Amino acid sequence: MPSRRRFLSAASLAATGLALAPLAACSRDAAAPVSAPATAPPSPPPANANAGTLIARAIPSTGETVPVIGAGTSGSYEIALDSPDFARLQETIKVFFDGGATLFDTAPNYTNADEVLGALLAAGGWRERCFLATKIAADDRAAMEAQWAETQRRLRTDRVELLQVHNLRALDIAWPYARQLKQAGATRYIGLTHYLESGHAALVEAMRAHRPDFVQVNYSVNAPQAAQTVLPVAQELGIAVLINRAFDDGKLFARVKDMTLPAWAADVGVTSWSQLFLKFAISHPAVTAVIPATGRPDRQADQLRAGSGPLLSEAQQAELVAQFA
Ligand SMILES: NC(=O)c1ccc[n+]([C@@H]2O[C@H](COP(=O)([O-])OP(=O)(O)OC[C@H]3O[C@@H](n4cnc5c(N)ncnc54)[C@H](OP(=O)(O)O)[C@@H]3O)[C@@H](O)[C@H]2O)c1
Repeated sequence: MPSRRRFLSAASLAATGLALAPLAACSRDAAAPVSAPATAPPSPPPANANAGTLIARAIPSTGETVPVIGAGTSGSYEIALDSPDFARLQETIKVFFDGGATLFDTAPNYTNADEVLGALLAAGGWRERCFLATKIAADDRAAMEAQWAETQRRLRTDRVELLQVHNLRALDIAWPYARQLKQAGATRYIGLTHYLESGHAALVEAMRAHRPDFVQVNYSVNAPQAAQTVLPVAQELGIAVLINRAFDDGKLFARVKDMTLPAWAADVGVTSWSQLFLKFAISHPAVTAVIPATGRPDRQADQLRAGSGPLLSEAQQAELVAQFA
């Protein structure tokens, strides 16, 4: 494992009264808090009692596994650092990691979500447990380089696990840059994302041309088209898949407000619509993990319950697609 620089020396950290985030089993350097908001200092993460209960899936390009339930940060993590919302997110992220989950997805253009996530990971000492995914979202090389420098500052780390080209933006420039960062050890994996059906054809074309480690795409009971487009190609090419918008950006909850769960839900261990929408996503065999967003600890706990027990049969998946079409 290559040695990596830290942003602040131990001496300068000591001068600010901050401790380094504790190192977990992983041998890579821990992230160094730059300026944590007014929260308790980092303490060692608690024993992970629930780790292992979540289903884990292998990333085809390496065989490394990640739990099937991850988290997104769009909207739900776009909060003020010095607000009560930050304390609520501290509870939420604790539920996430204590439950055995690891994968977080963010982006430099979700206003300040990456800065909030960086602060939360540092404050809780979670960075080494986190499989951290972010994006390149800029139009030229100079802007991409400046953005990556800012990303490291905001996430309080000098490397991520996954760097994705956001919505294929400026792909001809962004992809060579992503590959270069991977070669330099700044990211373990590189990927491509989209979130609209209208982007699936271009995403498939780019998957065939560039063979990314990961692809990220929208897939939900009311937008299941990826099962005909991106997902089979990912299986064919051996590309890991992250699912975004499994709740259609939250809109699905309004649709099920007065609806009862299918009679068979208990047979697959499902007790809420949130769990059912997530279980739908992870029941496709191409899917590596789903990354729902929430800023609430109760909803986070509920989401994690989708990551164990039986998956949905093809008939159950088809029934949901017909119901929400
Ligand atoms: N192009 C791209 O690369 C791209 C595009 C879209 C998304 N993404 C990634 O994918 C992640 C997920 O997508 P998304 O955030 O757009 O949508 P989503 O996960 O489908 O929905 C998130 C929304 O659902 C709400 N929610 C969660 N649980 C709920 C419950 N039990 N009842 C009612 N509302 C609930 C959340 O609000 P609360 O916080 O209040 O719970 C949030 O507003 C993003 O955060 C981002 O990381 C990437």
